[in-house]
Amino acid sequence: MKTNYLILGLFVLLISSCAGKTEKKLQAVDIKSLEENAVSLFSDNWFVVTAGNETNYNQMTISWGALGEIWGNPSATIYIRSTRHTFPYLNREKHFTLCAFDEEYRDKVLFIGSNSGRDINKIEATGLTPKVTELGNIYYDEARLVIECEKVYFNDINPTNIADPEAMKMYENETAMHRMFIGKIVNVWEKK
Ligand SMILES: Cc1cc2nc3c(=O)[nH]c(=O)nc-3n(C[C@H](O)[C@H](O)[C@H](O)COP(=O)(O)O)c2cc1C
Repeated sequence: MKTNYLILGLFVLLISSCAGKTEKKLQAVDIKSLEENAVSLFSDNWFVVTAGNETNYNQMTISWGALGEIWGNPSATIYIRSTRHTFPYLNREKHFTLCAFDEEYRDKVLFIGSNSGRDINKIEATGLTPKVTELGNIYYDEARLVIECEKVYFNDINPTNIADPEAMKMYENETAMHRMFIGKIVNVWEKK
């Protein structure tokens, strides 16, 4: 009898713990409703930037960038070195997406930032699940935050305009500069 009560108790515990764990889903939100630090999102959390369409896309990890406003629109600015395989995708495409992930995906995001799409299919390798937005852009089901941007501007970093010698060191043994892309934020989804 005692065993029966024990099993019943465990069963009730299991059901109630499952009921408390409702799966979070990506939901459309206003960028201004985000409660996160915009600097940390780039520099600590990192984003995966993706450009291309369902059949041909590439992605890389970025920590340089900013969220803000230009020409009256909420915007995201990113800096991409011209040697990246993602670079021509960003040049070609009208849009790009920025995906942020929870800590448990850190290894996968690091893999995406340490390997090139030139050599390996990073999505197959990491097991992330690509999804397509209504505008035809790629994001990943596992992301906790997705920012979809429409490209509005680009410009290359001009080394002669860099005032900080520390920053200049980044280009000492490199001829490939970073290109700044500004994207108007057209959609934001957050897991809630
Ligand atoms: C944490 C982290 C941050 C990075 N941030 C940037 C960045 O802001 N801009 C950039 O051009 N490369 C950045 N990279 C390097 C690219 O993600 C990396 O070279 C990547 O392998 C390029 O992939 P691809 O050749 O498939 O485009 C970063 C890498 C890591 C790990």
